[in-house]
Amino acid sequence: MWRGLGGRMRRLKLAVPAALVFLAGCAKDAPQDTFDVDGPIAQKIDNLQVPVFLIAGAVFLLVQGLLVATIIRHRHRPGRPDPVQVHGNTKLEFGWTVVPALLLVAVAFPTVFTIFDLSREPKGDVLPVEVYGHMWWWEYRYPTLGISTANELHIPTGRPVRLDLHTIEPGIPPAKGQEFAQGVLHSFWVPKLAGKQDVVPGRVNKLTLIANKADTYDGQCAEYCNLSHANMRLKVISQTPLEFDKWVEDQKKPITPPAGGDAAAGFELFKGKGTCIGCHTLGGVEGAVARVGPNLTHLMDRTTFAAGLFPVTPELLKKWISDPSAMKPMRPEQGTGMPKVPLSETEIDQLVAFLETLK
Ligand code: CUA
Repeated sequence: MWRGLGGRMRRLKLAVPAALVFLAGCAKDAPQDTFDVDGPIAQKIDNLQVPVFLIAGAVFLLVQGLLVATIIRHRHRPGRPDPVQVHGNTKLEFGWTVVPALLLVAVAFPTVFTIFDLSREPKGDVLPVEVYGHMWWWEYRYPTLGISTANELHIPTGRPVRLDLHTIEPGIPPAKGQEFAQGVLHSFWVPKLAGKQDVVPGRVNKLTLIANKADTYDGQCAEYCNLSHANMRLKVISQTPLEFDKWVEDQKKPITPPAGGDAAAGFELFKGKGTCIGCHTLGGVEGAVARVGPNLTHLMDRTTFAAGLFPVTPELLKKWISDPSAMKPMRPEQGTGMPKVPLSETEIDQLVAFLETLK
């Protein structure tokens, strides 16, 4: 059977996925490559993982090599006597106990030091940012700057950014005495800038980001958080301090209410029939302060929406508003994710015209 067609098919069925998984690691310029780092925090992790990877790789090759050589060399042949038995060889047993123990110690010391080093509060001109994981997007609030945004985190280059990681679900009724319902587990991960940090209900975990240069870094939620976990991406946009300051100034500006036309009609729908105001913040608009969905004050300043899934274009925004869950699975009926709004196609066009003014 094993040598027959069935066996060969079975081996092929195992070999093809294995080869695909292996080849998937060969991507060039992968946006989330942990071996291609761009900041001092990620560099410290890289400085640890590369030697550990090399030591572990050498051990793997040695052990597997000896195993395979032994299997081939001493395989059963008719009439061949048993090979020399080494059971009870003190020198050998001492050696293969002590050498791995020393290797583990050699790996443990830098690992523990790196863990403590990474968890230390950064010094200097630190920029604090509160990160809130929602099902299924990221909210960023800059307490010292008085601004907030979503999914695309802007940071200045060369400056330590200290993240406070929270998880909330403002779309779900909170427990007594709480401002927001507690969220679920997430994990904030931007591989080129830092390691993963879990976002845990009921506590505030910390993570430091430092970017060397101005660039855009892809990241994602790295802890299963229900239905759209795979659709909870993020970007970190690092800018020179000058450009960052300009971005902050822009973010502080309230919206400019449209003077007329479709956009003005869309603005009315936003506040009224469309019910958008119940979930989204719009700077300078009375009553538009909710945090159920992303702050839309400067939506057009972002490159993507729906947690990094789609480029911000009028066509995709229209498709999204027409049926959000068709583009990204969500559970609006349970308070997580955007519901369909009671608007006609013409009204949705007007709403999109308004959204396009949110620069
Ligand atoms: Cu959030 Cu997975």
